[in-house]
Amino acid sequence: MTKKLNFIRQHILDLPAYQPIFPLDVLAEELGIDKNQLNKLDANENPFGPLPEVKEVLSEIDSYHIYPDPESRQIRNLLAEHHNLPQECIVIGAGADELIDLIMRIVLDPGDKIVNCPPTFGMYAFDGLLNRAEVISIPRNPDFSLNLPALISAVEIYQPKLMFLANPNNPDGSTISEDDFVQLVNLPILLVIDEAYIQFSDPGQTLIPQISDYPNLIVLRTFSKWAGLAGLRIGYGVFPAEMTPVLMKAKQPYNVSVAAEAAAVITMKHLSKAEERVAKIIEQRNQLLVGLAQIPWLSTYPSQANFILCKVMHRSAREVRDGLRNQGVLVRYFDKPGLSDHIRISIGTEEQNQQLLCALKGMSKL
Ligand SMILES: Cc1ncc(COP(=O)(O)O)c(C=O)c1O
Repeated sequence: MTKKLNFIRQHILDLPAYQPIFPLDVLAEELGIDKNQLNKLDANENPFGPLPEVKEVLSEIDSYHIYPDPESRQIRNLLAEHHNLPQECIVIGAGADELIDLIMRIVLDPGDKIVNCPPTFGMYAFDGLLNRAEVISIPRNPDFSLNLPALISAVEIYQPKLMFLANPNNPDGSTISEDDFVQLVNLPILLVIDEAYIQFSDPGQTLIPQISDYPNLIVLRTFSKWAGLAGLRIGYGVFPAEMTPVLMKAKQPYNVSVAAEAAAVITMKHLSKAEERVAKIIEQRNQLLVGLAQIPWLSTYPSQANFILCKVMHRSAREVRDGLRNQGVLVRYFDKPGLSDHIRISIGTEEQNQQLLCALKGMSKL
């Protein structure tokens, strides 16, 4: 018998798998429900999809056989203009996800430490482990605010290189207070603020204007949520200018596809139209909060994002997720500490939200 060869690095073998969302057709088949009948409120996607102009532009491109611009110049120019920043500060990624990994790849040596504040977006800890970092977890307070004293002493004790904070945070939708931000950014650490949902928050929350004041601050953005381009994979980061050449050197040369860049460019050119859709989602979020308040066994958290986290009382959150799923309504359940009695509902169209509320009301009778 031949000896089984093991070529895989041990820390990758040991890595717990990230739990992504199942593709719609797989779920539809599993549930025996037509995929067009599924009400997808589980991945914080944009229920309106991309602008119609995106579909038009994508159907007209005649250069799909040519590699994309490795420097994504067109979209970087537009973003630089939009944020009133030099183009040298902006790096484009295949989603913010790629940039989270890229930052770690250029910053971390094996054994370096990063700080993570769960419950939060799972990729920070996942990519940290993938990059052989030690992940120092400083759990949030029960209301999901940051535990500042614990964070400050963790930085002192462990001397981590990096800290990741989503603003607003996924899964609860809370934002970082100005006071917390100022205390954190003044620590000897590279602070990455992930603004994947910032367009859904109150005006003035973005930390991009602070970039020029702090050489240890990075802000990430994505076109997945507000612009409805999750399937095309495009996001960007605003970096201290001296980091950009290193990121450009370390990234895959053709990381952003021709289609993704063109879609982002046309969206930026029709920004006010995309913003109108964001405003509709915010309006729907506020209406859904009112509707959810009528479900006596759910309690909601205020949200500055395109989702609402709900605590499920007197019944199991997993069963609520399953019960909704059997009716074709998909919401997110996390089997994780601090979240196992919660579900997260992404904001849909008015019709989608009504269907969800109806299904929840029906479950109240059980
Ligand atoms: C906080 C946060 N950051 C980043 C992402 C991923 O963004 P992208 O689709 O651009 O990779 C998500 C997706 O759910 C998220 O919740």
